[in-house]
Amino acid sequence: MSASLATVAYIGATILFILSLGGLSNQETARRGNLFGMVGMALAVVATVFGPQVTAAGIPWIIGAMVIGGSIGLYAARTVQMTQMPELVALMHSMVGMAAVLVGYATYVDPEATKGFEGAAHAIHSMEIYIGIFIGAVTFSGSVVAFGKLSGRVGGKPMLLPGRHWMNLAGLLAVVYFGRLFLQAETLQDGMVPLFIMSAIALLFGIHMVMAIGGADMPVVVSMLNSYSGWAAAATGFMLSNDLLIVTGALVGSSGAILSYIMCNAMNRSFISVIAGGFGTTAAAPKAAGSAAAEPVGEVNPILAGETAELLRDAKNVIIVPGYGMAVAQAQHTVFEITRTLREKGVNVRFGIHPVAGRMPGHMNVLLAEAKVPYDIVFEMDELNDDFPDTDVAIVIGANDIVNPAAQDDPTSPIAGMPVLEVWKARTSIVMKRSMASGYAGVDNPLFYKDNNRMLFGDAKKMLDEVLVALKS
Ligand code: TAP
Repeated sequence: MSASLATVAYIGATILFILSLGGLSNQETARRGNLFGMVGMALAVVATVFGPQVTAAGIPWIIGAMVIGGSIGLYAARTVQMTQMPELVALMHSMVGMAAVLVGYATYVDPEATKGFEGAAHAIHSMEIYIGIFIGAVTFSGSVVAFGKLSGRVGGKPMLLPGRHWMNLAGLLAVVYFGRLFLQAETLQDGMVPLFIMSAIALLFGIHMVMAIGGADMPVVVSMLNSYSGWAAAATGFMLSNDLLIVTGALVGSSGAILSYIMCNAMNRSFISVIAGGFGTTAAAPKAAGSAAAEPVGEVNPILAGETAELLRDAKNVIIVPGYGMAVAQAQHTVFEITRTLREKGVNVRFGIHPVAGRMPGHMNVLLAEAKVPYDIVFEMDELNDDFPDTDVAIVIGANDIVNPAAQDDPTSPIAGMPVLEVWKARTSIVMKRSMASGYAGVDNPLFYKDNNRMLFGDAKKMLDEVLVALKS
């Protein structure tokens, strides 16, 4: 393929990626957005493999690597559970980071890659390598820890080392110092030492940054790592002089940064403190995620499926708040059936979606769309939080942290300041979960003990099936 044809294909792919991002911003156009992304990526791969930068001898290697990588990706995509998606995404971010590190080292030791760079151009190229490896290493180790936290292999409790911000600052200064040594290095060997030391510092920084984050604040970090992986890809593009990789990396990096900003606003957290790590954590240490709630602060009022159906049938306004437990139980289809039955009886049913419900952005929207719940009854938290006082029944399905009043009432709580769905303001709230265990953030939930709250204990799918039978009988 000629250089000009490859450039045209790259421009086409870039436009498709932009259209893809635009499409993904809305549920109704998301499918089309995905399609644009897939076509754009296919075009990019073909134009790169058969483009002027690849020699004929390299093609079998690339195709071999694509077959192995593609098979692993296909297997992972087909076998992954919906609830494991966030950890898979974190793992993929780590791969992008690792690729940036490996490409950086390969570019540095390859005499062909640095041929023709003299004076200022050589210094700029060296800086691209140094910065690319730094971003890649932070993304790699941070994403591996995020994977561990999201999959429960690493505890959700924040690791707060004394003087952690000073340690970060010292690390950053050391990175700058070794960067200077790297740029001044006369030989390959002279440059390797500062490069290795910087890589080690960057790896430690990534681990430290994510380890310092408490459970409930993980969503913001995951979207930050998404952004970092984009910048790592852009850095790789600079090292390989590949324009499409630079543009695509910048698109991912900037859209990830915008998503992080939106998440920070939604979670009432400061953007800068996310990067510094260890924000939103207080002296009151949270319990491990999923641990049994310790101190009961009153009596809980259990309810049965039949009584729940009666309350729902008699209600005029119902708000359903789904959470991670609905995803675990795969209860979305029964939720849809209940919604349809109630709407047929004239009940106004709406859904309230918290920005961090579940384990990834849009988790609940995806599940509800899969179950064919109409989009026009699915609302964001801010759109209906004021409506709870006029709501007869608020039914919480496998959610916990996102409906915890301690976020508003207890300044020492690890989730203090996080906006929540105010279900306790409804005439009756019903929480559907299996036990009194805490949610992802590992904090107790005073909602369970409120006078107007009832607990429907059991697996969400099983309980909702019983509610549906009772509703129809
Ligand atoms: P959680 O606070 O994690 O609560 C989910 C609840 O579902 C648990 O308390 C659990 O209680 C219950 N549950 C689990 N399996 C169930 C089943 N089969 N049937 C019925 N209930 C079940 O979830 P949430 O309220 O959706 O809040 C999300 C949390 O995850 C936030 O802290 C958020 O910051 C964090 N997070 C979010 C994201 C994104 S981007 N959305 C990413 C990472 C972390 P039982 O064990 O008693 O059943």
